[in-house]
Parts: sequence; structure tokens; C-alpha cells
Amino acid sequence: MKIIQVTDIHLGHQGELRFGANLHERLARCVEHINANHADAALCVFTGDLTETGEADCYADLKAALSALLVPYRLLPGNHDRRANLIAAFPECADDESGFVQSVHDTDEGSLLFLDTLAEGRVTGELCERRLAWLDARLSEAAGRPALIFMHHPPVALGLAELDPLGLEQPARFLGLLKHHGNISGIFFGHVHRDVAGTIAGIPFFAQRGLHARFALDFNHPGATVEQAPPSYAIILIDRAAKRVIVHGCDFLEQWPAYSAETGEILTSDARRG
Ligand SMILES: [Fe+2]
Repeated sequence: MKIIQVTDIHLGHQGELRFGANLHERLARCVEHINANHADAALCVFTGDLTETGEADCYADLKAALSALLVPYRLLPGNHDRRANLIAAFPECADDESGFVQSVHDTDEGSLLFLDTLAEGRVTGELCERRLAWLDARLSEAAGRPALIFMHHPPVALGLAELDPLGLEQPARFLGLLKHHGNISGIFFGHVHRDVAGTIAGIPFFAQRGLHARFALDFNHPGATVEQAPPSYAIILIDRAAKRVIVHGCDFLEQWPAYSAETGEILTSDARRG
């Protein structure tokens, strides 16, 4: 099963440039690239910071842009989003009876769980009692099958001075729940605008840098610098029978010089594969 993860679109107002980039244009190119190369994906998951300001017109623009996407999609909020405006534009994304933008997508390959870590007014994320109780119940229902978690905020310190204080508050409670159920194949998040992989409590995690400008790599100094690195989305391949989860990053706007691996000859864009 193929799942696409796109994160941190930060869609602002039409015509706006942020750090030199037009995020509307970037999202349109991303949708085109997914349609051309991964229309066979089972789902496309947008892991938060869908908009820059959470204003209603930005969600209307997002909805228009995603109407071109050939793959079914699921949205979850980040700290830049506003829950009420998101739900108003995409009511289908909030089928959690507690009022949060949390949902499940059950497949033969496993259960995909989408969490709402938005704490309105704060940059950090939270999973309150109601959201943790919902997750506990869904993981109980997924017992005996692999579960994959999608969320905006990292539940793990990544060694990054600027970003580590801005992750999920009280991650120990969340991770304790995952360890208790013991069937988590991976945690996928955004928020840090960098590609990072590792394990926490024995569970693999993957951060995707997404469509926004990337935070510069700095292990020591708080004070964010961003760099206009190529935007990227992730292709997640899940094979339950083989107990395998693979994550590929796709820099969809990049076009490097390409050569034939057999002859060493430079290739025209028509002749290149991949
Ligand atoms: Fe973000």
C-alpha cells in the first residue's frame, strides 16, 4: 500500500511570497506531481500547518487546490491552523465525536490514525485527556494489526535547539499509550520543516520537511534561520505481510543533470527515467 505524506503547506493569501516562495504555486506543482507519479496511492495525508494564518479564505483556496488531486486525502491541523475554520471547510475530516480533527483509515495493511495536536494560541502541541482517550480506544480496536500514527507535532526531542521546546507537550503520556498497545509501526509528523528519522521508545518515526522553507540545521543555537531548500513530500510503502515500512522523500521541483548509468552519457529530460 502506498501512502503520500505532504506537510506544512503554510498556504497564505493569493500572490503572497514567503521567504521568496509562492506557496500556492508550490502546492499546485505538488498536486500535479502526485497525480502524474502516484495516482495509485491509497491516501494522501496532509500533516498540519495547512495554512499560514488559519483564515477561512485560505481553507477555501486549499479546497480548490486539492480538488485537482486524484488521490483521496485526509487533513489534520498544525499550530498555524484554526480548528473551526478547518472543520467548516472540510467537515469530513473531523469524524471524531469529541470535536477534534481526528480520524481513522482502516486498511488491509493496517490502521492509519490521524491525530489533532493543535493547542489554539500556542506553538507547542497537546493531546488532552479526550484526545488521548480517543487514541486509546482506537488502538484497542486495532489490536493485533499494525497501526501508523500521523500528527503535526513531534513527540520526541530531535536535538535541535530552536525546535525542541516547540514539540508535543507531555510526550511521555502519549508514548506510554503507544508502548502499552505495542502495535505501532511508525509515527509520521511535520512541524520541524526538516527530514529526520529515528526511533523513540523503540518506535520508528519520520519527520518530513514539506513544502515550506526548511529550518537550517543547528544543534546549538536557538534563533531560527530558514533556507529555501527544495520542497518535498514523502512516499510511504507499507507491506504488512513482510512487516515492512519504507519512506522515500521526493523533491518534486528538483531536476538535476541526469546521466545513463550504463554509458555515462548525459540524458535529455525526455530520455531520463525516474
Ligand atoms: Fe510549519
